[in-house]
Amino acid sequence: MKISIIGAGYVGLVTGVCFADMGHEIICVDVDQEKVDKINKGIAPIHEENLSEMLKRNKERLTATTDYSVALSQSDITFLCVGTPSRSDGSIDLSYIEEATRFIGQLIKKWHLVVVKSTVVPGTTRDIITPLLEKVSGKKEGKDFSVAMNPEFLREGKAIHDFQYPDRIVIGTRDKKSNDLLKKIYKGINSPIFTVNPTVAEMIKYTSNALLSTKISFANEIGNVCKKVGIDVYDVMEAVGMDHRISPHFLQAGAGFGGSCFPKDVAALISFGSNKGLKMFLLDAVMNVNDTQPLKMIELLEKHVPHIKDKKIAVLGLAFKPDTDDIRESRSIPLIQELLDKGAEVSAFDPIASGNMKKVFPHINYPSSVAETLQDAMGCLILTEWEEFSHIDFSPMQKPVVIDGRHIITSQNDIIYEGLCW
Ligand code: NAD
Ligand code: UGA
Repeated sequence: MKISIIGAGYVGLVTGVCFADMGHEIICVDVDQEKVDKINKGIAPIHEENLSEMLKRNKERLTATTDYSVALSQSDITFLCVGTPSRSDGSIDLSYIEEATRFIGQLIKKWHLVVVKSTVVPGTTRDIITPLLEKVSGKKEGKDFSVAMNPEFLREGKAIHDFQYPDRIVIGTRDKKSNDLLKKIYKGINSPIFTVNPTVAEMIKYTSNALLSTKISFANEIGNVCKKVGIDVYDVMEAVGMDHRISPHFLQAGAGFGGSCFPKDVAALISFGSNKGLKMFLLDAVMNVNDTQPLKMIELLEKHVPHIKDKKIAVLGLAFKPDTDDIRESRSIPLIQELLDKGAEVSAFDPIASGNMKKVFPHINYPSSVAETLQDAMGCLILTEWEEFSHIDFSPMQKPVVIDGRHIITSQNDIIYEGLCW
């Protein structure tokens, strides 16, 4: 099948290469010319396991362009995968969605299926995207074109794997033709297909991210109590997670959740509820726990290094999680800001994310090795569980004080060690 993908970011590009690998012909559209050029040269613009190999392997079946008309004229289906960031009040910013929808609407000639894959609050496909497409195209949904909602559940770092082996595929449609077509596109992926209407599909996506975030903040709150009484919360959660009604996943306590989705999606759901006259008590608490969690690492540091002003403090791990160079909403950002506010001299290291962090904090030091980062530092804070951090030699520090925010340090000989929740 011939498919256009609008927005060639994490979701769009991964969707594109995976569909191409299944034999579909893909045209990606992005407003970013540099990204488009890289994709056409077979270079992955983001760091994602197996993405480069898949791009090269499917060079014949996947191209990219900045021109919507090239893509729309050569396809019957369009997946909308542009970003849906937060506004400053936490509510969802639909400006990219609206811009892309207008472009698509102008180009609908014969019957076309528009599939919303971006995460959008319930009702967006029905009340905003569909009327806008009808207005701009002058055509009627259900007759001249159809609109579906197909949320994405992939994780960064494991994006290709998650796309190819999902726990379920959620398809939100309003007519049989779109439903059959979407099932045909996904033929070859062996997982249950859950069919609902677009608004329910949108709610499923938010509920899933909100529940996963809640599990993390819950583990962190329990972890904070455990820390006070000398219990390792990982021992607690291991046993708790053995209950099949709970599951062991997303109970790893530590510095909290970052990334481009959990913080913004929980904030958007809180704002959505508030617009409907509901106070979201539980989700407010989830965010509060998450906001304070990284700062607790500084409290632990100050137990051992009471005055951090003008002292060198090493921060290891800048990516919001391992196996990605993505730093969006990384817990290291509020932590570094607090260190700087307290007058510390920050030295930071990440195997691949330092370049991105330089755009946020241009004036801190970014040595090229762990040893250099630790050299003469008075404290070391670990924010990302990169495998290489599990066996660090802390000897470059004169008196190593190590605060572990990710339960990654195994050997604790010759160092003063504090786990965040253990
Ligand atoms: P991203 O920022 O990586 O990519 C979005 C892309 O859209 C960018 O390349 C940008 O240049 C492009 N773009 C912006 N406006 C455009 C326009 N008018 N026309 C064409 N291209 C345009 O975003 P992402 O992480 O891929 O997220 C996309 C959506 O998917 C969001 O709603 C997000 O919540 C959701 N989502 C993301 C993930 C994830 O792991 N990143 C997982 C599931 C769902
Ligand atoms: C998350 C979801 O897992 C995906 O299903 C979803 O599609 C995606 O958001 C999205 O909607 O964008 P992602 O943000 O890539 O994926 O990463 P996760 O592996 O979920 O981790 C998110 C954050 O939670 C990381 O900062 C991680 O360190 C933290 N985390 C995760 C914990 O602190 N504890 C845990 O037990 C698990």
